[in-house]
Amino acid sequence: MNKLEHFLTIKDLTQSQFLALIDLAKDVKANPAKYSQTLAGKSIVTLYEKQSLRTRVTFDIGIAKLGGHSVYLDQNNGALGKRESVADFAKNISCWADGIVARTFSHQTCEELAQAGTVPVVNSLSDMYHPCQGMADFLSLAEKFDDLSKIKLAYIGDGNNVTHSLMFAAALCGSDMVVVCPQGCFPDGQVVLEAQAIAEQHGGTLTLSCDPQAAKGADAIYTDTWISMGDDVSYDDIKDKFAPYQVNESMMSDLGIGYFMHCQPAHIDQEVTQAVFDGEQSLVLRQAENRMHAQNAVLITLLG
Ligand code: CP
Ligand code: NVA
Repeated sequence: MNKLEHFLTIKDLTQSQFLALIDLAKDVKANPAKYSQTLAGKSIVTLYEKQSLRTRVTFDIGIAKLGGHSVYLDQNNGALGKRESVADFAKNISCWADGIVARTFSHQTCEELAQAGTVPVVNSLSDMYHPCQGMADFLSLAEKFDDLSKIKLAYIGDGNNVTHSLMFAAALCGSDMVVVCPQGCFPDGQVVLEAQAIAEQHGGTLTLSCDPQAAKGADAIYTDTWISMGDDVSYDDIKDKFAPYQVNESMMSDLGIGYFMHCQPAHIDQEVTQAVFDGEQSLVLRQAENRMHAQNAVLITLLG
């Protein structure tokens, strides 16, 4: 298997690299002591242009559980590309740290960090992708389904960074995925074409629809915020368009859905109701826990 240099998007992984990461994440979760010194003596800078709860805490605690050390860097001591260039950030951090985890507005910033620096870069959310989330979500699905090539995953709501990463993960697994969005809110067209080509190679499908009925019979339905960080729209302007796409109890039962998934933070009574979010079919806390195990598998693979 080719050595992974960076982890910027799931699109960069082969099927065997993706499945190896899922297997490693399962082992890290089951046998934490085995990996407690894997990053001993290594330091990782975690860089944030945007807010975070899950990502910040799971990387900080996750790196400590691997015996490494993390340094949190927000924008208060000089914004990326403003006080100094993105390339100079990357070159300087590479002098001291063994890796960079970056949450950026523009995906191009992640790419620039990877190009200019000399250490592995992990994308912990950009406007285009959220690959750490996608890994955690497919780890969660793998814990529920023995054969991911046989599942139907539905994503409903706004086509965004999370959708893009799920599409690539589903494609690599050969799953069937349907993405249901209001008109004008579909995922990026180029990403759809790329994911469809990968799905076809692995016996999966990726279809798009405006009709929530397209999610019928899905093993899991996934939703995310209707307004992502960095989006320049107001809730009042979009709420009517998105209302039919809310995941609620009647949608779950009418469509015969298995599990509910959400990356969080959730906006209760917008994209999902409290009853579904907290209900028996909800995997949301499993997904949140699995962020740490999936990311640790990525860090071990890049730096271990
Ligand atoms: N799901 C996720 O990335 O959560 P945070 O924005 O809180 O890190
Ligand atoms: N799509 C959301 C995900 C948050 C974890 C955003 O980018 O804000």
